[in-house]
Amino acid sequence: MRYRDVVIKGRIIVTNKGVSRLQAGEVWLGRGYVEGRRPTHPGIYALLDKKRRFVGLAFLSPSSPHYLRIFSREEVEPDERYWKKVIREAYEKRKGLASITNAMRIVHGEADKIPSVVIDMYGDIVSFQITSYGAETIKEIIISIILELFRPSAIIEKDNATQRKIEGLPLIERIVCGEKHVASVYEGGLTFELDVLGGQKTGAYLDYRELRSAASNLAGGRVLDGFSYEGWLSCLLSRKVAYVISIDSSADAIKAGIKNASINGCENIEFVRGDVVKYLASSNEVFNFIHLDPPPLAKRRMDLMPALAYYRRLAQLALRALDRDGILMISSCSQAVSMEALERVIIEATQKRNGTVIFRGMQDTRDHPIIPGRKESFYLKAVAVKVD
Ligand SMILES: C[S@@+](CC[C@H](N)C(=O)[O-])C[C@H]1O[C@@H](n2cnc3c(N)ncnc32)[C@H](O)[C@@H]1O
Repeated sequence: MRYRDVVIKGRIIVTNKGVSRLQAGEVWLGRGYVEGRRPTHPGIYALLDKKRRFVGLAFLSPSSPHYLRIFSREEVEPDERYWKKVIREAYEKRKGLASITNAMRIVHGEADKIPSVVIDMYGDIVSFQITSYGAETIKEIIISIILELFRPSAIIEKDNATQRKIEGLPLIERIVCGEKHVASVYEGGLTFELDVLGGQKTGAYLDYRELRSAASNLAGGRVLDGFSYEGWLSCLLSRKVAYVISIDSSADAIKAGIKNASINGCENIEFVRGDVVKYLASSNEVFNFIHLDPPPLAKRRMDLMPALAYYRRLAQLALRALDRDGILMISSCSQAVSMEALERVIIEATQKRNGTVIFRGMQDTRDHPIIPGRKESFYLKAVAVKVD
């Protein structure tokens, strides 16, 4: 055994059932899978079976339902050198994306073997988010590795996710080093200005990249882009459609959208600050393509029914505003909503108009990979339906 106190806080004996789950690929274990004493200090722990044989390494978060987040089944020494190798390997896998964009997720948590940590690159700015107490203990190491590997102009900490409250962690949004917080990023041949510090999530919706591309392939004529954030999709659509109405409830997002349209010379976009449901319920406009990408509505199973009711309402309202041969595309980043459930809701709403599913898509797996067999890691899905 090469356990060093510096990096490994202690050892934990895992129950037989816990070991079986771990060996079957489970990435989280609750405290019920721990034999005997359950440590209350966050950090990295070595997991042993009842015969004291090594079975894995995990971040331990004392007050989290995900008490143990497993990051290795091999007996490695999780020091700075180890994490540098993991982050470098994750980056290597994304290098191909550099030919189409300078904005990409470098580390996608569990799928990249650093549970509850995301690292995103926006041009010369890197932002990161940590959502567990266990991983918080290696924050300084992560910052030092980002500096060494990517030499960014600035590093931004976007630790504002509500999950941190469950873990007992403070919410933090700050520039860790450097001064700038506005990046210039490109995607789909356009350039966008992005305030990484002020933006939603870690700055932007990188996971939606492939769906933005799919939507711009499907769209034509008069277009409604609902829940448009900073107008990236609206700008992409603008080049090939008659006009776009771009609606978002956030004043900052609309302001950024107007700037992005101006940078790219998109003159056929009307930006509207408001609620998409209210807009659709009161507007008499008719569109050929309606795209709706609402925020997450059901992170837990108990939120599923209200979320499906919301998607149903959105689909019904959108159909009223959809012209003959029109296309409706709805996305869901709600963890608990499956592709099938989303599709069912949309198809039911289109019954009288003979809806046909013409597209099914998901998060951009090039930088938001999915862990095989783990449905939580497949969270973003989209369905497009064409109606008579
Ligand atoms: C998932 S993001 C959309 C991302 C976008 N598709 C993109 O590619 O960048 C959801 C957006 O919905 C906005 N939003 C939330 N509730 C809203 C509402 N009721 N009406 C309009 N916009 C809303 C948020 O401000 C956010 O920008």
